[in-house]
Amino acid sequence: MNNSIQVISKYALDGKTAERAQALRASALAAKLTLESGSGKGNDFLGWLHLPSSIDEQQLSAIEKSAAQLRSECEYVISIGIGGSYLGAKAVIEALSDHFAAYKSSNGPKVLFAGSNIGEDYLYDMMDLVRGHKFGIIVISKSGTTTEPGIAFRLFKDMLEKQEGKEFAQRNIIAVTDARRGALRGLATQEGYATYVIPDNVGGRFSVLTPVGLLPIAVAGFDIRALVAGAVEMEKDGDDIVLDYAIARNALYQNGKKIEILANFTPRLHFIAEWWKQLYGESEGKGHKGIFPASVDFTTDLHSMGQMIQDGERTLFETVLSVGDQDHEVIIPGDEKDLDGLNYIAGKNVDYVNKMAELGTRLAHMDGGVPNLIITMPKVNERYLGQLIYFFEKACGISGYMLGVNPFDQPGVEDYKRNMFALLNKPGYEEQSAAIQARLKK
Ligand code: PA5
Repeated sequence: MNNSIQVISKYALDGKTAERAQALRASALAAKLTLESGSGKGNDFLGWLHLPSSIDEQQLSAIEKSAAQLRSECEYVISIGIGGSYLGAKAVIEALSDHFAAYKSSNGPKVLFAGSNIGEDYLYDMMDLVRGHKFGIIVISKSGTTTEPGIAFRLFKDMLEKQEGKEFAQRNIIAVTDARRGALRGLATQEGYATYVIPDNVGGRFSVLTPVGLLPIAVAGFDIRALVAGAVEMEKDGDDIVLDYAIARNALYQNGKKIEILANFTPRLHFIAEWWKQLYGESEGKGHKGIFPASVDFTTDLHSMGQMIQDGERTLFETVLSVGDQDHEVIIPGDEKDLDGLNYIAGKNVDYVNKMAELGTRLAHMDGGVPNLIITMPKVNERYLGQLIYFFEKACGISGYMLGVNPFDQPGVEDYKRNMFALLNKPGYEEQSAAIQARLKK
């Protein structure tokens, strides 16, 4: 496919790993077939597979209309959610925004995120920020029962109703949740909020192209049509690079590279890596198996993690998100005295230096025994982000099946919740509470 993201695996696969990759091609094709035929584990969660091409004009214009409502009345819109109900929107909005949008005036509302932690000071500071300002809320929870967004929503709903009145709140609170189940669905019906449905067959971490991601992204003023169009391109024509990535990472894993670091040289991609970590971490970390997904922002982290990557234990491989063009050009000026010794790059633009840092780092890391996969992206815009999202999702499904796990469940995330509920004396957790108290006394 021309004009799209690409995968370069030749620098990651040499000698033994190349042979391993060759041998894994049959398993990757089998995993792809399992995914596409819906015959594998977790097959009731494959709604994301043909999601991009199934999004129609009616859905897009409804989301744009809701976004226009919030944009017309609110100075701030608080998107409340955690995990898959948070990271996709945060990642896309941060990737497309002015880095200093928070400090600049803008035409539309500023989108804030709450419910992705239980930080008391975080919530206090946000309440302090929106006090006296008109704000709206998008509350997102598939289960409708998650504690972190539940607490945040209770706080901001109460505040909004007291501050602006029930009618304003009802107009400017939108719930995104399951069609039938969960406390949020009941509450939204009771209060008469506008709602969007998270399809039953789309899990949280695969939901960014549903209203979970599209609504906050539209509220932030970005083009959800171009985002979806990019994903459709990848859905239709992306299989070759999807397979290349799934094969390469499994070949590296089988050759002892247990940690994948997603590296970028573009500060706006920081949260794309956070979204990617959830996608791969929750999908693959099962049965005491799985590539550990980590991330770094270069060149920043070359001055903190660079030593470890270059010279620590050789269990790493690196996937570099390599962006072609920046949106703006900044030329390094010449200086007559050259006291800082930088005249050798005078007249060059900053991104030229960054590109040389990227190439130099890749070569150094390869020399140090860190294989490099590269994902190239012509530039950061809605279309290429849409491609990237779908690319990672499909590769994740195939890669998970190659690993022999169910990529679409997450049983392990319940364990901390059980303990927390027991410690908080939530009704129904009495037995576990007693067991924990006995354990803590030892
Ligand atoms: O990917 C997942 O399923 C999870 O990370 C969920 O998205 C996260 O736990 C939030 O769940 P919910 O949307 O039900 O509040």
